[in-house]
Amino acid sequence: MAQENKPARQVALSKPLIGDEEKQAVLKVLDSGMIAQGPVTEAFEKAFAAEVGVPHAVAVANGTAALHVALLAHGIGPGHEVITSSFSFIASGNSIVFTGAKPVFADIDEHSFNLDPASVEAHITPKTRAIMPVHLFGNPCDMDALGALAKKHNLVIIEDACQAHGAAWGGKQVGSFGSGCYSFYPTKNMTSGEGGMITLQDASVAKRARMIRNHGMQERYKHEMIGFNLRMTDLHAAIGITQLRKLKERNEARRRHAKYYSTRLKGVVLPQEHAKAHHVFHQYTIRVAHQRDEAVKKLGAAGVGAGIYYPRPIHQQPFYLEMGFRDSLPITERLAQEVISIPVRPDMTEDDAAYVVDVVNALGA
Ligand SMILES: Cc1ncc(COP(=O)(O)O)c(C=O)c1O
Repeated sequence: MAQENKPARQVALSKPLIGDEEKQAVLKVLDSGMIAQGPVTEAFEKAFAAEVGVPHAVAVANGTAALHVALLAHGIGPGHEVITSSFSFIASGNSIVFTGAKPVFADIDEHSFNLDPASVEAHITPKTRAIMPVHLFGNPCDMDALGALAKKHNLVIIEDACQAHGAAWGGKQVGSFGSGCYSFYPTKNMTSGEGGMITLQDASVAKRARMIRNHGMQERYKHEMIGFNLRMTDLHAAIGITQLRKLKERNEARRRHAKYYSTRLKGVVLPQEHAKAHHVFHQYTIRVAHQRDEAVKKLGAAGVGAGIYYPRPIHQQPFYLEMGFRDSLPITERLAQEVISIPVRPDMTEDDAAYVVDVVNALGA
């Protein structure tokens, strides 16, 4: 009987794609005798900076650390406000809280899932020091509008590009409009196990970031400022540098699957790609107006991995309510009830994608 209930196919939402190259690279580091931060991390930083098209990159322990260190390196702290999106992973808000600054949540555009520049402008006060655009699901924010706002109000841009490795706006890579922050968590478009990277334009900010990541040191045991241990290890960097070489090809596969879906899915709201955007589909996120839980259950029963990113916006998280956040962000709050992410893994076959299409198109039946 159990056999009859078994789905015809299993299509997982995400899985890390680790090959022999990654294994060999890690073994080489293990054999080298230098397994903490060393030359491989430095090589990864150089390769990543070149890929994004910026002069500096600083590797750190994870994406949360990238945001935290980038904010501190730009001098963000108590008394400052940073405008970001509440429709994001908790780290976008928490990294600002860590510094003593206040996160200020602007609403999003319902088609891009990203910060709405008009809402950002409405939230600027004399305390605002930075805008943190989150390129959610691999879709770049409108960097023309946000860049113009930053320029007009003399604000720093710290991009949360944790889901957007290789994404671009107007042909320019995200992470190169301001300081870019990346995560290499295993579900991301590229991984290092755990890991993070900050891409930077300014040499003095990069120098500060390097010090903050390593207990405020430039010279051994001379601590010039308060810092943390947020270093990346060469073991992680060895995986990361190998994955970076595969990023373009894997992003293209994601885009191919996304195109396949967008020309075949029916009865749900589809993700959009702006004419200036190069979306890298970290997630392919559809929207259903009603009975989202029911839809997720049906997808699961059919063997199709489905994720809800994110069911509760940051400003409505228990700790944020405790801190006194009482924002009303109508689009953020509505989308949190409507979104479902479906598999768009680079290693999926076209048969997998066809199966997902059939299952999604039968949701209304
Ligand atoms: C939008 C966003 N910001 C920040 C982070 C934090 O990255 P990490 O999990 O590597 O700390 C993530 C990762 O999940 C993310 O998706």
